Amino acid sequence: MILAPQAEIDYTALRENLTRVRDAAPNSRIWAVIKANGYGHGLLGVAGALGDADGVAVARVGEGLKLRESGFRQPIMVLGGPLSPDELHSAAAGRLSIGIHNGFQLEMLEAAHAVQPLDVWLKVDTGMHRLGFSPDQAKRAFDRLRRCRGVQGTPSVMTHLANADDPNDDLTREQIRRLESLITELPATGLSAANSAGILGWPETHLDWVRPGIMLYGISPFLGETGAMRGLKPVMTLRASLIAVNVCPAGEAVGYGGRYTCAQDMPVGVVGIGYGDGYPRHAAGGTPVLLNGLRVPLIGRVSMDMLSVDLRSQPDARVGDPVVLWGKGLPVEEIAEAAGTIAYELLCGVTARVAIREINR
Ligand SMILES: Cc1ncc(COP(=O)(O)O)c(C=O)c1O
Repeated sequence: MILAPQAEIDYTALRENLTRVRDAAPNSRIWAVIKANGYGHGLLGVAGALGDADGVAVARVGEGLKLRESGFRQPIMVLGGPLSPDELHSAAAGRLSIGIHNGFQLEMLEAAHAVQPLDVWLKVDTGMHRLGFSPDQAKRAFDRLRRCRGVQGTPSVMTHLANADDPNDDLTREQIRRLESLITELPATGLSAANSAGILGWPETHLDWVRPGIMLYGISPFLGETGAMRGLKPVMTLRASLIAVNVCPAGEAVGYGGRYTCAQDMPVGVVGIGYGDGYPRHAAGGTPVLLNGLRVPLIGRVSMDMLSVDLRSQPDARVGDPVVLWGKGLPVEEIAEAAGTIAYELLCGVTARVAIREINR
């Protein structure tokens, strides 16, 4: 049988990875980060399987509302906060916790008198220089939030680590130092800094709440490693089938642009998955694909709906034989490296035409 591209999502692996977070940061509560459609694994399914987390975090109000509309009852944090008064009102109606990272959001909250009070996380920029109030501005922003009727209780404070994936980079320690010196002046309800790299590599970043993303999906946040090296299990396995087997004559080239020329008469397999499904077009020749559980190399350019592989090591391979592009048996980290990108991008990039198959729900 020929299998159309399928992303198999293993919820047991997801739950075990969450346990790994608890083991690594036993004194912290967990915001499980499930933005961008659960890092490509499916927002609602992932949220449902992460019931043991203390809450989930998404990037945008729309993602949080989608969870509430589906009946999800646990705390939901919108990391980027509301971007308009309408979003602020929807966030309040949906009982979403919100990040507040700049002056216009603060002004919106102050102006919204009738809004249901929200749980608010003040975002402080301790060195990433992307979002957040500088430590100098943070004290005043915190005081304004405390006086604001739209804010429930005393705000919490979060920051984001820029380089925690590099164990030799001192910025992480410096970011925590800046945060700690700031909060001696701010009676924040809770503090949060750690992403997956902070959780696994920097215990001093754990604080009250950790915010794991990529490690929940079984991926190591550290370059040059795989999740298995950290006791993590891949949650997504991307599968497809061989849809054609041809013999390509010596001297002829395979696929668009003729990037691969056959040195001898050789069997070439065509796998029914391509960049239109989210497989990276920039995967280099030689990138491994698992065919019948064994590695064969990619040859030629990846097309929209298919890619070609060298079958000389499996001359008996047939149409319908199973292929794994990444996941169980083939770390996505390895494919990301071969394509000059990171596992985050590959997982988030799986497209809507790939069917999701849930296992161990
Ligand atoms: C604010 C914030 N916290 C936590 C995370 C989770 O990071 P990671 O997937 O590296 O664990 C992200 C992801 O980009 C984020 O933007």
